[in-house]
Amino acid sequence: MGANVTYLDPSGSQIGKKESIADTARVLGRMYDGIEYRGFEQTIVEDLAKYAGVPVWNGLTNESHPTQMIADMMTIKEHFGKLSGIKFVYMGDARYNMGNSLMVTCAKLGMDFVACTNKKYFPETSLVQQCQDFAKQTGATITLTEDVAEGCKDADVIYTDVWVSMGEPDEVWEERIKELSPYQVNAAAFAYAKTDAKFMHCLPAFHDLNTTIGKEIHKKFGIDCMEVTDEIFESERSIVFDEAENRMHSIKAVMYATLGNA
Ligand code: NVA
Repeated sequence: MGANVTYLDPSGSQIGKKESIADTARVLGRMYDGIEYRGFEQTIVEDLAKYAGVPVWNGLTNESHPTQMIADMMTIKEHFGKLSGIKFVYMGDARYNMGNSLMVTCAKLGMDFVACTNKKYFPETSLVQQCQDFAKQTGATITLTEDVAEGCKDADVIYTDVWVSMGEPDEVWEERIKELSPYQVNAAAFAYAKTDAKFMHCLPAFHDLNTTIGKEIHKKFGIDCMEVTDEIFESERSIVFDEAENRMHSIKAVMYATLGNA
């Protein structure tokens, strides 16, 4: 059976503007077998799921990125043969979609999660508490630290994400560069990690000057990379393209399982 896919870009429908999420959900639910939402507030994808009457997949919101989690955990398992007991360090903006979802996932899977960043970028206290509860059941640990040496000590995986996410204004670049530069993933951070530690990133990554934004930032602030150095991104430690491939397998599996084929 062939698949038909329709892409609705932000200007391609009245969703939330002239038509409520609940109404759009019911219209799309009559026309499609499933809806993947990749956008902004978590409440939008939850309303779509409530009203559409067909499977709704969260392809990323400001608050969470669950399908990326399946790909990331699959990638860690491929490289380390296990998840439980892995020391997983997240550096940078830990209070957005990636930091939140990785903390929840590590807590549920018995991993040792560390958010290593400026405390302004620690995940929300209520989510940390929820994760501490999961951790009690799974044997996971959750650590928040501003100290790179402590955070990265004996790490198996060091992970980062862009410092300014989709949906955030350009004005925040300057502040982010100032506050998050000490938490750049570089050779100094990896010097604290295990010798076979791996680097992960959900992409897109600012590791060189081959992007428009990378060039603009270089012109304004004189830096040639941001959350990760090119040296680490291009090193043998980097498993970012394994993650990228695994997103395809994991999202296909989620769709297959939820469309009533499993
Ligand atoms: N935090 C990033 C993740 C991209 C996959 C963003 O929301 O833009």
